Amino acid sequence: MIVELRGVCHGYRRGADLVEVLGGVDLCLDPGDFVAVMGASGTGKSTLLHILGCLLRPAGGSYLLDGEQLQGRPERELAALRSRRIAHVFQMFYLLPHLDVVQNVALPFLYQEGLSRSEVRYRVDDAIDRVGLGQRRKHRPAELSGGELQRVAIARALAPRPDLILADEPTGNLDARTGGDILDLFQAMNDDGHTIVMVTHDRHVASRAGRLVTLRDGTLHDG
Ligand SMILES: Nc1ncnc2c1ncn2[C@@H]1O[C@H](COP(=O)(O)OP(=O)(O)OP(=O)(O)O)[C@@H](O)[C@H]1O
Ligand SMILES: [Mg+2]
Repeated sequence: MIVELRGVCHGYRRGADLVEVLGGVDLCLDPGDFVAVMGASGTGKSTLLHILGCLLRPAGGSYLLDGEQLQGRPERELAALRSRRIAHVFQMFYLLPHLDVVQNVALPFLYQEGLSRSEVRYRVDDAIDRVGLGQRRKHRPAELSGGELQRVAIARALAPRPDLILADEPTGNLDARTGGDILDLFQAMNDDGHTIVMVTHDRHVASRAGRLVTLRDGTLHDG
């Protein structure tokens, strides 16, 4: 099993109150699973992805990644795991405004050792071509459309070929055709054995995944 969440809880402070968002989430993923997560706005889907991506420590419960317990591990170990194994396509793109497309997509490789410069260059160019931005390599974020920004963020996540891909509404800003191309890309990554968790509000998009779960009242339900 690549991911094993047991009884994961999390909440946020709102003034003096602690508002519970996740109230005991269980989720098991085998390598090569492709899971869609649905649920109403504000139910905690992004929170769940942040926990899966080791960006947020859950307030309770346990998270085993590849059989290793993550609870209590120091931040630098989580950061290393993240850069080696996990990619996150965020709802907000977090692209660096002063860098062009190639430089943004190459960012994750700054934290990855053991790859030659030519291999990095190949993976970056390949990812940019796959999202259809070959003609935009030298553009900076301010010179790109919303859908193009989304595709840069996807290229950046996929270029290092991570084991676990977490995508928060990856087709939310795209027209049907480009969205379809991006889903084909996820499908191809999944066929190559990458595990994918994708949040979406669109049933048609969700149907491309092998499994659907819905977040409701703080817990995950099948279907
Ligand atoms: N950093 C934070 N501090 C306080 N409250 C937060 C924080 N992040 C999220 N929340 C609250 O937690 C709840 C769940 O947020 P989350 O972003 O996980 O929902 P979501 O299911 O991804 O929603 P959407 O579909 O709109 O993206 C929301 O009510 C939100 O206001
Ligand atoms: Mg969200």
